[in-house]
Amino acid sequence: HTLTIDADAPRTEMSDDLYGVFYEDINYAADGGLYAELVRNRSFEFAPTDNASFTGMTAWDVVEGAGGTVEVASERSEWLNDSNRAYLQIEADGPGVGVRNEGYNSGFAIERREKYDFTMFVRSDVRQRLTVSLESADGETTYAEKTIRVNARDEWRKVRTRLRANATVDDARLVVTGGAAGTLRLDMVSLFPRDTWVGPVNGRSVLREDLAQLVADLEPSFLRFPGGCVTNVGTFDTYLESDGQDRRRTYQWKETIGPVEERPTNWNFWGYNQSYGLGYLEYFEFAEDLGATPLPVLSVGANGCGSRIPEMTDDERIERWVQDTVDLIEFANGDTDTEWGAVRAELGHPEPFGLEYIGLGNEENTRTFEANFPRFRAAIEERYPDVTVISNSGPDDTGARFDELWEFNREQGVDMVDEHYYNDPAWFLANDDRYDSYDRNGPHVFLGEYASRGNQWRNALAEAAYMTGIERNSDLVELASYAPMFANEDYVQWSPDMMWFDNDESWGSTSYHTQKMFMTNTGDEVVPSEHTGPEATPPPLSGGVFLSTWLTQAAYDDVVVTDNETGDVLFSDDFSGEETWDAQAGAWDVVDGEYVQSAAGVEDARSIIPDAYGQDWSDYTLDLSARKLG
Ligand code: AHR
Repeated sequence: HTLTIDADAPRTEMSDDLYGVFYEDINYAADGGLYAELVRNRSFEFAPTDNASFTGMTAWDVVEGAGGTVEVASERSEWLNDSNRAYLQIEADGPGVGVRNEGYNSGFAIERREKYDFTMFVRSDVRQRLTVSLESADGETTYAEKTIRVNARDEWRKVRTRLRANATVDDARLVVTGGAAGTLRLDMVSLFPRDTWVGPVNGRSVLREDLAQLVADLEPSFLRFPGGCVTNVGTFDTYLESDGQDRRRTYQWKETIGPVEERPTNWNFWGYNQSYGLGYLEYFEFAEDLGATPLPVLSVGANGCGSRIPEMTDDERIERWVQDTVDLIEFANGDTDTEWGAVRAELGHPEPFGLEYIGLGNEENTRTFEANFPRFRAAIEERYPDVTVISNSGPDDTGARFDELWEFNREQGVDMVDEHYYNDPAWFLANDDRYDSYDRNGPHVFLGEYASRGNQWRNALAEAAYMTGIERNSDLVELASYAPMFANEDYVQWSPDMMWFDNDESWGSTSYHTQKMFMTNTGDEVVPSEHTGPEATPPPLSGGVFLSTWLTQAAYDDVVVTDNETGDVLFSDDFSGEETWDAQAGAWDVVDGEYVQSAAGVEDARSIIPDAYGQDWSDYTLDLSARKLG
């Protein structure tokens, strides 16, 4: 193989925000995943409209004690608030009557000596002592226990205590029982580990530590959220407008902020229930803590993802949604003397989030998207001309419709178009030149979702090969994110995924490691290069070379990279004058049939630069970013 790099050829500026992440609440990515809440169905709101097997008692068992009735109720005069209407009602004949929660996966994963914060809303007509405990599934062993005294009071009040576990197990149950005969009502029964992820800006979060850290380790430059099909499918009512009747509401950001007990739960496109415990403020803060640009995606009243739910065509309703969209930007960026900037400040974040991008629509196959999009975009551009509006092209496999949407976007003169595709590894190998021929004068590309089908080593390699094509074209492809991000292994609606977990373990897929390698090694300028040698022959995956070469700025005057074996000069450049650069080099080798990053290549490079310039290696990093498929 020979790699020729032409240092004199014109270089292409690489996008500063090229690699980011796409977060969607799919595969239990939020509840039972990134959101650290351990109690499942804490507000008794699960409903068969979300999932035929769900009821208000999903994940709860009755503890019989002295006997009585335990059931989910929803009396207007009794409920916690208008956004949280279901609650548990216990009519106890004596002590010990209550409920047991099974959590997610095998149960509650707890660690010896770790602390867990318990909170709950209670209403009791008698004075009594409630018992809160963590127990084994058979009830034989108690891992932690506390009592909470409640007075006879005809109103809801919040109680709290802290449990400390005496064992490390992954199948505990949370048990709450009353201490006397009488009527007891419970809602928002919650248990959080004390140890959640701590962000550098916002401090302790509500995010599960290991999962948030896996994301942070990718060093993403943007965070796209909250979907995907979670974003743009449903009716367009709010929970209150529908008087709590509408269980299939399109995701609306205003329902997801404020005290968690006042956030209505909602149907999730992927067939389960979303608590909105992770809402817009949490997503913005997570992005800020990741050092990533927030990139929310909102519906324009068109249902995508093959949904048949009626779309938004009435003018008044569209106008409210347009206003909500503009309000979101004010919530993110507005001064604290604006209406929504003030709300952000009240919620504890006076500093603006610096929103730069907003996605309108996800994967729309209907005409309503074209009808509504211009109105949303015009309203945003009028008030926030600096915010980049991203349109979309629908999924890549829709043939003519994909082309039509691209044409629409060209006519509209949009800045960026969100493309999605999921294909076989061979497709990725055969199409790494996809963007070479895209029109540079048209809209730029946000590759918002892509993955090769499978979670095996060959997928990671095919994606790596493809990403060299993204890098070479990163003047055009400004943003790219693998999808989906998370999957709880016991609740999978979509595979492959980048990161996997259960209730106490988490791991990156092979694709995660490809993403991490590329995301944590990015350049400033693409340096044209040419490879001669055996060509890629997909399929099967063998014998190909895919590469991108780039430079990052740092501190030396010129650089020569020589192949130590042959003595060939691989790359040389004389950065005369003021220019300073840091070249990076790295190669992949096949060692004993395994595909590995070439330590030798890096070591060679390390020895070249100090020799040539008489300086310490510690001043430099060297990575040629030649990704070779052996
Ligand atoms: O990433 C999973 C799904 O794929 C997304 O929700 C949707 O946008 C696409 O169809």
